[in-house]
Amino acid sequence: MHTFEPFELKNLKLKNRIVMPPMCLFTAETDGYVKDRHLVHYSSRAIGGTSLIIMEATGVMPNGRITDNCLGIWDNAHVAGLKRIVDACHSEGALMALQLNHAGRKSEAEGEKQDYTISPSACASDEIYRTPREMTHEDMAEVKQAFCDGAKRADAAGFDAIEIHGAHGYLLSTFLSPISNKRQDEYGGNLQNRARFLLEVLEAVREVWPQEKALLLRLSASDYLPGGTNLAETVEVVSMAKKYVDLFHISSGGIAEAKIEVHPGYQVPFAETIKKECDVPVIAVGLIRNREMVEEILANGRADLVALGRELLRNPYWVANTAWETNSHYEYPDIYERAFGRRY
Ligand SMILES: Cc1cc2nc3c(=O)[nH]c(=O)nc-3n(C[C@H](O)[C@H](O)[C@H](O)COP(=O)(O)O)c2cc1C
Repeated sequence: MHTFEPFELKNLKLKNRIVMPPMCLFTAETDGYVKDRHLVHYSSRAIGGTSLIIMEATGVMPNGRITDNCLGIWDNAHVAGLKRIVDACHSEGALMALQLNHAGRKSEAEGEKQDYTISPSACASDEIYRTPREMTHEDMAEVKQAFCDGAKRADAAGFDAIEIHGAHGYLLSTFLSPISNKRQDEYGGNLQNRARFLLEVLEAVREVWPQEKALLLRLSASDYLPGGTNLAETVEVVSMAKKYVDLFHISSGGIAEAKIEVHPGYQVPFAETIKKECDVPVIAVGLIRNREMVEEILANGRADLVALGRELLRNPYWVANTAWETNSHYEYPDIYERAFGRRY
């Protein structure tokens, strides 16, 4: 099966094609530190055979967290807890990536200052969210530095890769979208200007993140809104970003409320188009629910890797179980030999 074919990209030597996409647990309490529950959660997916685990959106700044309960990496003290998870998952055979995020105008973290929430322009995502403050060039330099410091800390924690969160209406994606970016300076207006901050962050991070380690970028291929980002623009963004990025993770939506027609595999055509038009490796994600769908995507070369989100929440042993059910060649964890081996 294509699912169990290895995949190699820079330092990532993956034993199969199944990726766990970033999914927030909202269990970090208010200090951003890893808790035992994170360790149990991620190491279960590692022992279940997931080849690459991309850990949840982790705030590069306190006001970059989605909520007060999100993981943080703005302090050296965060490294030890993250390293504990990386080491545990490595010892169960998974490779580890960390998603670095600044939530921008979708941050619900409670700051003391009125102007805590930042965004390219002072417009709220919707009535639920706070109205952010328009970022100054100093704010932008601070955020860029925070992504670089986060990358250095991720390296110190032993992560094999980092994923820059450029999707779902969080800070970097709000620069890309004309719906959230109304700036009059060189960071607003045409696509080249709207992509400028993302490209600056990628360039700066690439310099501090070890060259031999993979750098991933998650993008929303479409805002599904008139006047918003669309696939054609995203193809252009990928073409501009690919000199810094090794692997693109293609998602969609999140900039503002939109009517999205979801159906199994609904985002795969985005990944497929980007892979073909930009000649880059991609991860496909989004309502991919069973091994037939995974095989179809891989066999037809529509994506290099497939991420299973909620499916892996339901079934942490998806990979091992699928190998067993299909009688595929697979190295089961030795402690479960009695379950997966053919000894009765
Ligand atoms: C509980 C939950 C938390 C999520 N947190 C994140 C996140 O931290 N970062 C991110 O980029 N996407 C996040 N997502 C989106 C997933 O990574 C994935 O793209 C989405 O669930 C679609 O894949 P699926 O249909 O296989 O679940 C989250 C999704 C869920 C269900």
